[in-house]
Amino acid sequence: MPEPTGYPDLDALLPRLEAVPTLGADGLEAERTAVLGRKSGVLTAALKTLAARPVEERKAYGAALNRLKVRFELALDARAEALEAERRRQESAGVDLTMPGRRRWVGAEHPVTRVVDEIVGIFRELGFAVATGPEVETEWYNFLALNFPADHPAMDMHDTLYLDAEPAAGEPGGRLLLRTHTSPVQIRTMLAVPPPVRVVIPGMVYRNDAMDASHLPAFSQIEGLAVDEGISFVDLKATLTHFAHRFFSPETKTRFRPSFFPFTEPSAEMDVECQLCHGSGCPACKGTGWMEILGCGMVHEVVLENVNLDPARYTGWAFGMGPHRIALLRYGVPDIRLLLGGDMRFLEQVGRPGAT
Ligand code: PHE
Repeated sequence: MPEPTGYPDLDALLPRLEAVPTLGADGLEAERTAVLGRKSGVLTAALKTLAARPVEERKAYGAALNRLKVRFELALDARAEALEAERRRQESAGVDLTMPGRRRWVGAEHPVTRVVDEIVGIFRELGFAVATGPEVETEWYNFLALNFPADHPAMDMHDTLYLDAEPAAGEPGGRLLLRTHTSPVQIRTMLAVPPPVRVVIPGMVYRNDAMDASHLPAFSQIEGLAVDEGISFVDLKATLTHFAHRFFSPETKTRFRPSFFPFTEPSAEMDVECQLCHGSGCPACKGTGWMEILGCGMVHEVVLENVNLDPARYTGWAFGMGPHRIALLRYGVPDIRLLLGGDMRFLEQVGRPGAT
């Protein structure tokens, strides 16, 4: 039994004080009100008897009353804390707090998307706008306007995916096909806006190619086109060299080799120093130390005439490159099919921002 107070009316409350640690949550709050409540609490009522007591007793009784009140408060608070702790313990029963949390899947850009965005970003800084065009084209835009002769082998069913549908009325010429390059958007752009033209054209292109380590039947390209008065091959070389230095590294060596495209004259292919061996020769660059990244050239006079521009007044240059191929070079990926597989182990290595 708790220590007596010396006053029978107060001592009568001691069994209740002793019982506090056995109370449940509801009983505890009821008891707090019953003992300490301002209106009907028994200790509040006892306080009111103070005035009726003999003067000499008042002080000591008041002190005993207060001490008991504090003992009740402490006991009630301690019980409330114990009940809360018990509630929390039950709540987490069965939860293993030492178990590691489930890792979140953090999304990332696909490596090819990153490459496209970076390339476009570099050209935007140089004042190029972004243009796009349809993936379903006519023979005229994809080939003929670009100065392909009508019997060019690229126009064979063998290389190009033709559609059965008829072109919309009023579209210039020939059968419908899935564009084999982004160059038809050169034609669309020059027909749509007068020079000066400076655009980059990202998009998907399609070829009747079997899939292997270095070929896909559907892949991305980025076309570039600059047309104005007084544009020369110097602009082409300087801009593309600047691009290679920005995209790869300022030390990256570049070279231009003569090439052929029906829609450019002269035409070239640009190589960059192999990004894996840095020029010493390795299996990835077949021992040459160089990797081809794009085709380019001065816009052919016939192409300018086909879009009603006067070649005596306007000149231009164009390029086309393949972001899928460039992603392989940049990240040292041995097989282009890895870019389509969606294998998280691969994408986590090369797709995460900051990974190189
Ligand atoms: N269209 C060409 C290809 O797909 C690339 C290219 C574009 C070449 C523009 C020169 C100028 O191979």
